[in-house]
Amino acid sequence: MLNIIKVNSEQQFNETGAAIIASLLQTNPKANLGLATGSTPVGVYKRLIDLYNEGLISFKDAHSYNLDEYIGLPDNHPESYRRFMNEKLFDHIDIKLQNTHVPSGNAENLEQAAHDYNRLLDHAGSIDLQLLGLGHNGHIGFNEPAEELQGPTHIVTLDEVTRNANARFFNSIDEVPTHAITMGIGSILKAKQILLMAKGADKAEILATSLKGPITTKCPASFLQAHANVVVLVDQAAGRLL
Ligand code: GLP
Repeated sequence: MLNIIKVNSEQQFNETGAAIIASLLQTNPKANLGLATGSTPVGVYKRLIDLYNEGLISFKDAHSYNLDEYIGLPDNHPESYRRFMNEKLFDHIDIKLQNTHVPSGNAENLEQAAHDYNRLLDHAGSIDLQLLGLGHNGHIGFNEPAEELQGPTHIVTLDEVTRNANARFFNSIDEVPTHAITMGIGSILKAKQILLMAKGADKAEILATSLKGPITTKCPASFLQAHANVVVLVDQAAGRLL
């Protein structure tokens, strides 16, 4: 089931997203949070840091599992998702670093790293709340449109659309990694609740296709239609066609 929340401002977007996460932490301080990168959740993370600083929430017993990571960027590379998460959230709250998990994009044996991440997710039990952004081609995590999708964590080749979209964060397109490690659609759909977030006019069409079009591997986000509990947080521009 999809519950759509359309907000009127950036501030409302961030407050609403953070409130959903905060209320989970207040009722379940040991929650397993599925976290996402990209520009969309940054303001939500900022607001969460505020709530933490105001003493309203604590992450000390929470665990986090990120969706994905580039292959081949050192952990301290400015665009690695590990560094992104540390800088945008973890360094500013009381989560224990050893309880934060980002797939390893640097392992010598990447297949093994994907396998290990799956085991980690299995041991964690369920993800209570999975945050998602939306790629312009309908990707979630780094599950790109394809003839077939994979259930568990796996290695993917990034689409040119994705590399181009993410090139804005690098000096040039040549520096954007060609591969990534990502939780699969199966792992994502196992979450008890999903919070899909999209902002801006450039996401309107793909968001409508994802939520109202056919369920197809050509649009990985369309599989969210089959989940029992999805909250879709959008601004007016992204939600225009819903
Ligand atoms: C990246 C990430 C996704 C993210 C998407 C959208 O490629 N792997 O997890 O949702 O891009 O990014 P943005 O929020 O910057 O539009």
